[in-house]
Amino acid sequence: MYKLAIIPGDGTGPEVIREAVKVLDAAKTKHRFSYEAVHFDLGGERYLRTGEVLPESVLKELSTMNAILLGAVGHPDVKPGILEHGILLKIRFFFEQYINLRPIKLFPGVDCPLKNKGPNEIDFVIVRENNECVYIGAGGFLYKGTQNEVAIQEMVYTRRGVERAIRYAFDYARQRNKGKKLTLSAKTNVIQAHDLWQRVYDEVSREYPDIARDYAHVDATCMWMIKNPEFFDVIVTTNMFGDIITDLGAIIQGGMGIAAGGNINPKGVSMFEPIGGSAPKYTGKNIINPLAAICACQMMLEYLGEKQAAKDIENAVAWVTTEKVKNLSAGKMGYSTSEIGDLVAGHL
Ligand code: IPM
Ligand code: MN
Repeated sequence: MYKLAIIPGDGTGPEVIREAVKVLDAAKTKHRFSYEAVHFDLGGERYLRTGEVLPESVLKELSTMNAILLGAVGHPDVKPGILEHGILLKIRFFFEQYINLRPIKLFPGVDCPLKNKGPNEIDFVIVRENNECVYIGAGGFLYKGTQNEVAIQEMVYTRRGVERAIRYAFDYARQRNKGKKLTLSAKTNVIQAHDLWQRVYDEVSREYPDIARDYAHVDATCMWMIKNPEFFDVIVTTNMFGDIITDLGAIIQGGMGIAAGGNINPKGVSMFEPIGGSAPKYTGKNIINPLAAICACQMMLEYLGEKQAAKDIENAVAWVTTEKVKNLSAGKMGYSTSEIGDLVAGHL
């Protein structure tokens, strides 16, 4: 019996989470696991109504859960940053979800913006460090608002934080057993602090002689992701670079309609989410693509150890993309949000 926290959140979050739960229920029936869902009302509406972003009591309750499924945060009437910092980043940091795992997988049948690239070429995983870098919020202003203003934001890495991310990535490459290669993506030619990443990578790599070593500067990584995506198997990178290159990855796998990620603490409470955001302009129209949320749910089941259920969901999504939906963008799918959920659940 799993205890799952469901946070639908803002915008289209509730619509896509509804479909993910539909699929979860179909998987549950088929695979005979059971779960108790606890819904949490967090997001812009609650903040505007009560001034609360993420009360301590909710954090406490979340810590008793096996996993968290999150829809989206971000509300047009709330100043950017409040909900992102107060909910998403807060949960990532509080539960030390130090890995942000983002598979870049082009499902069969999906329109890909890259010429002559298909599912065989686009199938890799980005391991984004999730608790450090510029995200820790160390910085500030001097002489704010004047001509002499100085703005500072520190890029902070700890030996422990870098090592656990790199180790996770090596383990992941080994267990994935595909290209058996781990690319470190950083910017060692400019950012001195990235020397720590390089040294830790070199050191840890000695424990993984079966995994091929590789390095690419982050700018070159962007180029290779477009030119030769088949070059990659697993990429490990910093929080900020990971944020950027996973959006690039999302586009080559068919867009935000399918891109999912896991915020993982291998020994703690992990959180799974579609990475596309709250998409306010599509809210309430039943046209947003729920496949990303469904894939997030699939990653959650994989993490919980329900491997067969996860595999089945992946196959059902592949069936939908092969047989039904080519264009994964909101409004262009030829199906409504709930119809896509029905198709995946029905196939299961
Ligand atoms: C993501 C998002 C977040 C991030 C924002 C919403 C804080 O872009 O999950 O990639 O920068 O990590
Ligand atoms: Mn992002």
